[in-house]
Amino acid sequence: MNRIAFVTGGASGIGAATARLFKAQGCFVYIGDVQGDKGRELAHELGDAEFIDLNVREEAQFERAFARIMERHGRLDAMVNNAAIVGVMGPIASLPLEQYDYSQEIIQRSVVLGTKHAARIMQTQKSGSIVNVASVAGLTGGYSPHVYAACKAAVVNFTSSVALELAEDGVRINAVCPGNIATPIHTGVKDARWIERIAKIREGAVDDQPMPRMGEPEEIGEAVVWLASDAASYVTGHALVVDGGLMAGRMWRKQPPFIRELHPARV
Ligand SMILES: NC(=O)c1ccc[n+]([C@@H]2O[C@H](COP(=O)([O-])OP(=O)(O)OC[C@H]3O[C@@H](n4cnc5c(N)ncnc54)[C@H](O)[C@@H]3O)[C@@H](O)[C@H]2O)c1
Repeated sequence: MNRIAFVTGGASGIGAATARLFKAQGCFVYIGDVQGDKGRELAHELGDAEFIDLNVREEAQFERAFARIMERHGRLDAMVNNAAIVGVMGPIASLPLEQYDYSQEIIQRSVVLGTKHAARIMQTQKSGSIVNVASVAGLTGGYSPHVYAACKAAVVNFTSSVALELAEDGVRINAVCPGNIATPIHTGVKDARWIERIAKIREGAVDDQPMPRMGEPEEIGEAVVWLASDAASYVTGHALVVDGGLMAGRMWRKQPPFIRELHPARV
């Protein structure tokens, strides 16, 4: 029997890579996104897939999406709450609060909605796995605008909190915290210009992190499909960092001189 997976924000970047990896594992994949053209194209390419128009701000649209999945397949094995934007940014003293709700609804509340409706199905089935795409920005400051950081921290804590409730029903829920991944989200554009823009950003990443390159969306997708699979059958409530070593600590060459002088062999 095909396993059934649903990926929000599945038309681009990490979501699209995850959809491809699910398909490669023999899953049927539902792709939910606001980017209809890209999402439909990907579903067509994958074959065992269906695109669902989904704005993750709208609970009614989630309800419609899950109703469609249950109508066609009658079950859901993997739910990936992946859709997000960078959202409102700027210094705290002049943060435009009128953009706060919109940002929070897409980055954080969407994860609550996707989890709520997936959990209803999975608790009845007594099986299933939910994966929430958070960020290293949700673990510490300095990697994103303030509101994005706060929302992703909420996603991490929400995940562990809900894990406690779902475990008894045989449902697992985990988060993945990506570092710098080469996707359109960094470029401010969704069309083909992102490729040119990301090339410049890639150059900057070389000097800034232990593994001197950006990650690829597939490298996050691999973590997501592993957490969603039975191979991770004893893992729940976890936040899996996939970041090329970014969170491991300050790189040696970025340490202050007095530290480097203590260990001259490493200089
Ligand atoms: N790229 C990175 O470096 C990085 C790092 C950490 C976390 N993340 C997280 O990874 C996830 C995927 O982002 P990505 O890097 O692949 O970016 P992306 O821009 O390529 O993909 C995001 C997708 O979400 C969709 N989306 C946005 N708003 C939506 C809405 N209201 N309803 C439905 N879909 C919507 C977009 O259309 C797009 O397809 C996000 O949660 C992001 O915060 C990315």
